[in-house]
Amino acid sequence: MILPTVNEVRALHERYAPSQEVLDLVLTHCEIVCDLAAQLVARTALPIDGDLVRVGALLHDIGVYRLYDQDGRLDHRNYIRHGVLGYEILREEGFPEPLRRFCSCHTGVGLTRHDIREQKLDIPEADYVAGTVEEQLVMYADKFHSKTTPPTFLTADSFAARMERFGADKVQAFGVLRAQFGEPDLTSARARYGHALI
Ligand SMILES: [Fe+2]
Repeated sequence: MILPTVNEVRALHERYAPSQEVLDLVLTHCEIVCDLAAQLVARTALPIDGDLVRVGALLHDIGVYRLYDQDGRLDHRNYIRHGVLGYEILREEGFPEPLRRFCSCHTGVGLTRHDIREQKLDIPEADYVAGTVEEQLVMYADKFHSKTTPPTFLTADSFAARMERFGADKVQAFGVLRAQFGEPDLTSARARYGHALI
């Protein structure tokens, strides 16, 4: 598979972002996730394609741009759809399935048909679950930074606490990822971006 370059992915973000402000928010988040994921790649003993992880991390939230209206407001209610919207953008752009899946399979610790039915989520009923180790790592690294206003870094414990309302199985799934990949060191990313740690 031929991977897009970092500059090509950046250009894609610039093309879909509705404003400079939103571009800064989403692209910065993707770059942070990319840095954290790269850190975990360097540490894992698992066979893993580091270049694929980087590209997947940089692309994973591209669908968020489609949730902004003309006045620059984010449609929070439909935020759950950003993964499948990203998948669609990458399909329209001719990106292969393995890259599209970084968008559709990074939400929470994976969304199942059961979750979608149970929580009445407005996305096509299917399993959106990270399959490859690269998909799992991007999904996991994403949990340590949030595009809130203002953006924040999260510890593994904070994220695990957040998962509690989605059920013990989700907390456990996060625990498995945590044991598998370890926790990224957020010190340098925090110093570089100045976002608080919660
Ligand atoms: Fe993300």
